[in-house]
Amino acid sequence: MSRDVSVVILAAGLGTRMKSSLAKVLHRAGGACLLEHVIEAAKEIAAPERIVAVVGHQAERVKAAVEGLGTRFEVQTEQKGTGHALRVCGGQRGVRSGRLVVLYGDCPLLSKVTLRRLLEEHEKGGRAATVITTLLADATGYGRIVRDEAGRVAAIVEQKAATEEQKKIREINSGIYCFEAEVLWPYLEKVEPNPASGEYYLTDVVELMRAAGQATVPLVVEDASEILGINTKVELAEADRIFRERKVKELMLAGVTIERPDTVTVDVGVEVGQDTVIGPMAQLLGKTTVGRGCVVGASAIVENALLEDGAKVHAFSFVQDSKLGAEAEVGPYGRMRMGAVLEDGAHVGNFVELKKTRLGAGSKAMHLAYLGDATIGSNVNIGAGTITCNYDGKKKHPTVIEDGAFVGSNSTLVAPVVVGKGSYVAAASVVTKPVPEDALAVGRAHQINKEGWAQRRRENKA
Ligand code: UD1
Ligand code: CA
Repeated sequence: MSRDVSVVILAAGLGTRMKSSLAKVLHRAGGACLLEHVIEAAKEIAAPERIVAVVGHQAERVKAAVEGLGTRFEVQTEQKGTGHALRVCGGQRGVRSGRLVVLYGDCPLLSKVTLRRLLEEHEKGGRAATVITTLLADATGYGRIVRDEAGRVAAIVEQKAATEEQKKIREINSGIYCFEAEVLWPYLEKVEPNPASGEYYLTDVVELMRAAGQATVPLVVEDASEILGINTKVELAEADRIFRERKVKELMLAGVTIERPDTVTVDVGVEVGQDTVIGPMAQLLGKTTVGRGCVVGASAIVENALLEDGAKVHAFSFVQDSKLGAEAEVGPYGRMRMGAVLEDGAHVGNFVELKKTRLGAGSKAMHLAYLGDATIGSNVNIGAGTITCNYDGKKKHPTVIEDGAFVGSNSTLVAPVVVGKGSYVAAASVVTKPVPEDALAVGRAHQINKEGWAQRRRENKA
């Protein structure tokens, strides 16, 4: 990371073509908003305090969305064009010297490798600017690169201003540049508003510099997807697809087994360890970390969760804001939410829901249970159909089940209540009082057998 590099990210526009009330750079693809992707890439070449995001539309919301990333902000109150957006950053520390890299907030697929390459190319010298370009089969909508005899950029012509001849040019402006800051600023301040739109185009600076003998050199990148500018929701969906494809490929190359990778959704920030197996249609979202040798089964959804080595989330389970210790298992059809924790080797089976509940090491709740606001010790057995009645209509109450307890099937534990260490709760009990350590609690109606009753009934009918 070179010390004299600053980055300005233009992100003030509304993005009219998105047809949305949400600012364009806040739309999400690959599990993060567009601007977040661009900032993450920019961090590859500059320290966060040398990165300035120009915000305008919904400035406060945009700032709030990325403020954790440590960049600085500049507000462009009126969106008077890309040239104007850069100009309003003139007072920011560092932008007037060294290298100034300009990125667009709506261009999220740019890779770190390409950004580094941009700087390397620029360092070759003999130029005022380097601009990333690519060749598109259909260049409609983009600024076209008009080259001079020497292969340098003579001008960048916007779609609207392009002649029929220029519209045939397939080389387009990505909107990503590296400038010699000291050369750039005087010319940037001379850019006049475009006569048709009234906007100050950053692209016009290229011609101004050229007239003064300051060259702009194109850097052609092969993978056009990297500079896809998101203007519509169709392009947004395409960007999302590309992010997903890149992410699963990266994971597979790092030793993760992914079945039917084209059906799997993994957000960019997710980490997965070697030899983990991810089934078809699975989704790994948000800030999720999965250890080594884990399983995320078919159609399971794991969001903001931590899975330690060897943990298994079986098919069709939903694990949200929760943690599975080593070798712990949930599902199929399990649900964990709001800080639920399975300690090492704990096992939760089908149709079991855990909310704000900790299930201790080696404990089991294999079928059909609701465990909410409960603290459950180790080696506890929770029978099928057990319910913690944690809500009295006004407040939530805790349930504590101590180590080694055995809760029989279909028990109803009315919180607040404690089931003591090593105790038994007989099946179908309603438990409203504490169960002492090592006791048996039976809280159900006594069974009465009426001898011969069924036979008499049959005879009466006949
Ligand atoms: C721009 C380029 C075009 C290039 C294309 C690549 C200009 C004049 N044109 O066109 O040559 O091919 O990008 O995607 O630069 N923004 C602001 N403030 C403003 C205006 C824009 O911050 O006043 C931001 C937008 O939020 C956006 C970026 O700048 O992130 C690009 O603006 P946009 O209007 O999308 O430019 P294009 O018409 O796509
Ligand atoms: Ca654009």
